[in-house]
Amino acid sequence: MLDVGAGTGLLALEARRRVGPSGRVVAVDVSQDALRECRRQAALDELVVPLHLVVGDALQLPFHDNCFDAVLTRSVLIYLTAKLTAVRELRRVLRPGGRASIFEPVNSASDGYAWNWGLDLSSLQPAHDRIVAYLREHWEHENAMLGFDERDLVGCFVEAGFASVRLSYEYRYDCDRRRPGEITASLRVRPNPTMLSYEEGARAILGDAADDHLLRLSRLMLSQPLTGVMAAAHITARRSS
Ligand SMILES: C[S@@+](CC[C@H](N)C(=O)[O-])C[C@H]1O[C@@H](n2cnc3c(N)ncnc32)[C@H](O)[C@@H]1O
Repeated sequence: MLDVGAGTGLLALEARRRVGPSGRVVAVDVSQDALRECRRQAALDELVVPLHLVVGDALQLPFHDNCFDAVLTRSVLIYLTAKLTAVRELRRVLRPGGRASIFEPVNSASDGYAWNWGLDLSSLQPAHDRIVAYLREHWEHENAMLGFDERDLVGCFVEAGFASVRLSYEYRYDCDRRRPGEITASLRVRPNPTMLSYEEGARAILGDAADDHLLRLSRLMLSQPLTGVMAAAHITARRSS
């Protein structure tokens, strides 16, 4: 089986446990560093099933046609503008009857990139809006990550010529109080590797006034429950026999 955009191998390493003694797992990623970590973790495992690590691009997989029984990819298509090209590649490398599985966050349905947590932020304007605009301007993958939903993903599998396509959609809404440490983390952590954190945006826009802004925002966030929406699509598909 093939794990596309395997990263440090969370899925590929588990797949290695599941394919059985005659199975083989290939992990492909553009990042040599991620694969190096994957190799390190694989070495800790006592399993003998081979794990092949290959540097390569999901948009042009370095494999022959029809060579895998199963392909999977998780949280990789979100980074690609040409999602259909990547799904065509999944189909191309699958043998007839082979199966594909993907799991992708559907960011257009979530509010993670609005930075408002369901709060009335008028007391922090116009600084807050300027910070959010700055974060979005400096987000290389904004279009790829926000400009699609689960139907677009299903459409890619249909257009790529898969014989059967199944979608499971997960949607989660939460409204709860957060602890101070969680609030600090949500302002300090980069939501994804290609994006700045809210705190970095605040420092770039407000300079010396950033600490005061972050303190007032943290207090507001502590004062009431915060809302959050998360959505994800899991698609399984089969290539016709
Ligand atoms: C969020 S990580 C997901 C890693 C892994 N699939 C997992 O679920 O733990 C995204 C991975 O996609 C890889 N990636 C991004 N663009 C890629 C491309 N065009 N071809 C192959 N891998 C890519 C990144 O290097 C990174 O390792």
